[in-house]
Amino acid sequence: MKKMFLMLMSFVAVLQLYSQQTVIRIGTNETDLILCTAPTGRLYQSYLGPRLVVNSDAENLSYFVSGPAADAPVTPRGWEVYPASGAEDYFEPAFAIQHNDGNMTSIFRYVSHNQTKKDGNVTETVIHLKDDVYPVEVSLYYLAYAKENIIKTWTEIKHTEKKPVTISRYASNMIYFESPAYYLTEFSGDWASEVRMSNQQLQFGKKVLETKLGSRAAMHCYPFFELGLGQEVSENQGDVVLGTIAWTGNFQFTFEIDNVGNLRVISGMNPYASNYELKPNELFTTPEFIFTMSDQGTGKASRNLHKWARKYQLKDGEKDRYVLLNNWEATYFNFDEARLEVLMNEAKELGVDLFLLDDGWFGNKHPRVGAHAGLGDWEVMRSKLPNGIPHLVETAKKAGIKFGIWIEPEMVNPKSELYEKHPDWVIQLPNRKPYYYRSQLVLDLANPKVQDFVFGVVDKIMKENPEIAFFKWDCNSMITNIYSPYLKEKQNQLYIDHVRGVTNVFKRVRDAYPDVEFMLCAGGGGRCDYEALKYFSEFWCSDNTDPVERLYIQWGFSQIFPAKAMAAHVTSWNRSASIKFRADVAMMCKFGFDISFADLNEKEQEFCKLAVKNYNRLKKVILDGDQYRLVSPYDTNHTAVMYMNEEKSKAVLFTYDIFPRFSEKVFPVKLQNLDPNRRYKVEEINLMPGAKSRLKANGKTYTGDYLMKIGIEAFTGGKMNSRMIEITAE
Ligand code: DGJ
Repeated sequence: MKKMFLMLMSFVAVLQLYSQQTVIRIGTNETDLILCTAPTGRLYQSYLGPRLVVNSDAENLSYFVSGPAADAPVTPRGWEVYPASGAEDYFEPAFAIQHNDGNMTSIFRYVSHNQTKKDGNVTETVIHLKDDVYPVEVSLYYLAYAKENIIKTWTEIKHTEKKPVTISRYASNMIYFESPAYYLTEFSGDWASEVRMSNQQLQFGKKVLETKLGSRAAMHCYPFFELGLGQEVSENQGDVVLGTIAWTGNFQFTFEIDNVGNLRVISGMNPYASNYELKPNELFTTPEFIFTMSDQGTGKASRNLHKWARKYQLKDGEKDRYVLLNNWEATYFNFDEARLEVLMNEAKELGVDLFLLDDGWFGNKHPRVGAHAGLGDWEVMRSKLPNGIPHLVETAKKAGIKFGIWIEPEMVNPKSELYEKHPDWVIQLPNRKPYYYRSQLVLDLANPKVQDFVFGVVDKIMKENPEIAFFKWDCNSMITNIYSPYLKEKQNQLYIDHVRGVTNVFKRVRDAYPDVEFMLCAGGGGRCDYEALKYFSEFWCSDNTDPVERLYIQWGFSQIFPAKAMAAHVTSWNRSASIKFRADVAMMCKFGFDISFADLNEKEQEFCKLAVKNYNRLKKVILDGDQYRLVSPYDTNHTAVMYMNEEKSKAVLFTYDIFPRFSEKVFPVKLQNLDPNRRYKVEEINLMPGAKSRLKANGKTYTGDYLMKIGIEAFTGGKMNSRMIEITAE
């Protein structure tokens, strides 16, 4: 009897709790995400859009939003914040589980939430949900960055069933939109053709963006997207959403338009081949999903992400960057001590800060003279470099520059001592013929011993050479031959545990060597996500350094990442482009060279020195200022990008004529967001020695208003022609 009474009382208490609607407002200065509970205790998204001015408007929102008209024969459903499979929502779920008794449903109900101000700008909201039939809990985390208008969100999953449960969906986040039409911009590519942008209108059903490559995961599909609400995304107007997942492995975005024309966006790890066994009390943390909304197009949304990244996410986001000379395209594997010495002296002459030694410096039994051998044997190749790395660091020091080094520590060539000693450290099938990509295999980072080994690669180099200032960390293969010797019968955890192992090592390295800069590279831009960028200060956008191609590639990556995170070097990939054009393209990002200085003529050398000087003088504006993408290479035969400091006192404008048609009409380039009432001096800089500016506006002053409404006649009919223009407030 007593038991029954207690049960009744707790039922009443639950009812009381659920009958009060809880409204949770996750807001930035420009966006509101409003969640509220229904009388059933389930949590729904009641609003996501421009910030609501009046508080009571947020309170008045209903838990079910926009379905068919009230008198229609279909019952409207709510937009459940973390819907699990097996309930009345028949679309793609955020979560799916199999409990100990074989049951495959979950329904989460609101338990509590708390909001904490992290600082004047950042508010954290944590919402606890619980299934009241099975002991499974979900916590939803949201960090709202007020000024930058960014929301970062992730989820934690835990249970206390007797035995492990299997989770087969574990989204980081799910959000809903209601609009007459939805347009998706996706980014696809391959080696040397990264981030090609394409648009499509979404229709009923699903569009999935995902990767299954495991490592070097972003080679074909990039972990970000743009959504246009009501119209295709455009640079300066319209409602857009930019989203990105911070996960250095298999990710998945699902865009699903439901039966009533609403759009659901689910973001997270890719559950492909990854049913995860979760032990009682083990915490499963999903990757962070980061998004921003803008009612003024993608230009503003990208600037939100850039500012936020520099301040909160990117390693050393607010610090300066080195200009460097890399030997890869100058020598490939073909170098020795004397050749490197020459290059280091050239680096000094050029005026850069650092020399970066690329692939090919290691391996003795299996010398790394090409991509087929030596990977994994991180001992200096004595035949090539008899005095070791310390001597090279010393040589750089004598030349007055810093020294950096290339590694690819997650990988192994079967032709290596590492492979001979530890075949069990390698992801490979025990019973099938291996398939190699670039003659290499991926180490089994789910294994803690392998994590120690990979950390040890950096640790050993640093202990022996404490003055090393920079690492280029490459990752040239996706996971092939998918079998982890360490995970044994739990192969379905490989994709997740491998990436968690990689991230652990990244963290350990950053914590052990916080002042060293790290470049993320995966045979070009195959790794570019905001988790890895917590530990890496930049990423290599592409092995394709043809400046024409780079204009498109840099345009693509700039949608999500700040110029400061994007490494761009002057190379000889396209010799028919002038050295000035090549430099002007690389100077839009984190600048460097990958060229033999001696191959340039005197004028070109002089120009390069000038470019380094100009870059150093203006890099605060380029790397820390706001970026305005003025003219898209996708729309015309020209492109223009401008950077401006916060005070609006200095701007740098880059303009490029790619392959204009004969007698094509060119339009003036209109600048953006200058102070209309201030006067600005326009000066063309970065000219070849002896060349005179032919820019009509050169040396003149104009109001900001003029420069924004009438613009500068900077484009020409010349092929692969470029201009760098400095704009200074008087
Ligand atoms: C691929 C990288 O993208 C290149 O820059 C270079 O480091 C090579 N790997 C070296 O093998």
